[in-house]
Amino acid sequence: MRGQPTSDGDGVKLTRVLTQPLQKRLDPFLMLDAFGSDAASDYIGGFPSHPHRGFETVTIMLEGRMRHQDSVGNVGLLEPGSVQWMTAGRGIIHSEMPEQEEGRMAGFQLWVNLAAKDKMTAPAYRDVPPAGVPIVTLPNGVTVRVIAGEAQGVTGAVTRPTTEPLVLDITLPPSASFDAVLPAGHNAFAYVYGDGVVDIGEAGADGEPARVETDRMAILTNDAAADGVRLTALATLAQPARVLLVAGQPLNEPIAQYGPFVMNTTAQIHEAVADFQRGAFAA
Ligand code: FE2
Repeated sequence: MRGQPTSDGDGVKLTRVLTQPLQKRLDPFLMLDAFGSDAASDYIGGFPSHPHRGFETVTIMLEGRMRHQDSVGNVGLLEPGSVQWMTAGRGIIHSEMPEQEEGRMAGFQLWVNLAAKDKMTAPAYRDVPPAGVPIVTLPNGVTVRVIAGEAQGVTGAVTRPTTEPLVLDITLPPSASFDAVLPAGHNAFAYVYGDGVVDIGEAGADGEPARVETDRMAILTNDAAADGVRLTALATLAQPARVLLVAGQPLNEPIAQYGPFVMNTTAQIHEAVADFQRGAFAA
């Protein structure tokens, strides 16, 4: 699937890869935005103060610098290779502003839903510096940054209960393959980026893989008998292919979203808006 070009914050240009109509199919994931531009005018407005309630945001910085500040008192600098994992819980107000006036800014923001029982948990924030993201290097030259979950026996920078998200940033040299183990019950997708083209199929199976071009998302089938997914970079590539592989345990709960609030019912959305307007998120 191809994402939708859009803008968010104060005019930041981005591609919404995981859109609202896919939320049920890709439960517990609510959104994936990809951003990448050399033009300051595409990102300089940043994301001024705004609220969130009911889910978690994961910011994966590839290039450029952004400054995070929030109502809980956290301040952090997102730099190339770093990851920020923010649990909005019952409410947080934050800003994400570029700390550069020129040069390239690129990365992802993924939204992971919280279970009904966890939506009103205390907000939390974690900055993971580049060195805090474990990197697995395989004999065939494939490298895997284990952002969340586990891969090749290596525990990622972040592990979360209930949704058990797996987030891998994979670099595949031309013609190299990587088999990722995915729990049978998880929903999963792969986003190909950079200049790569990747064949995506079932690990250990003879079926024909699907060819996925750059800047496309592949939604993986849920086959209880499958061992996982095999990613193979096209042999003719001039440089390694990049893939963001994401999987998680679905919550199977109702989703009610109004912009930056994601709850289970409309009544809870009204409550979120009222709480925000009376300043309850600022404490
Ligand atoms: Fe935000």
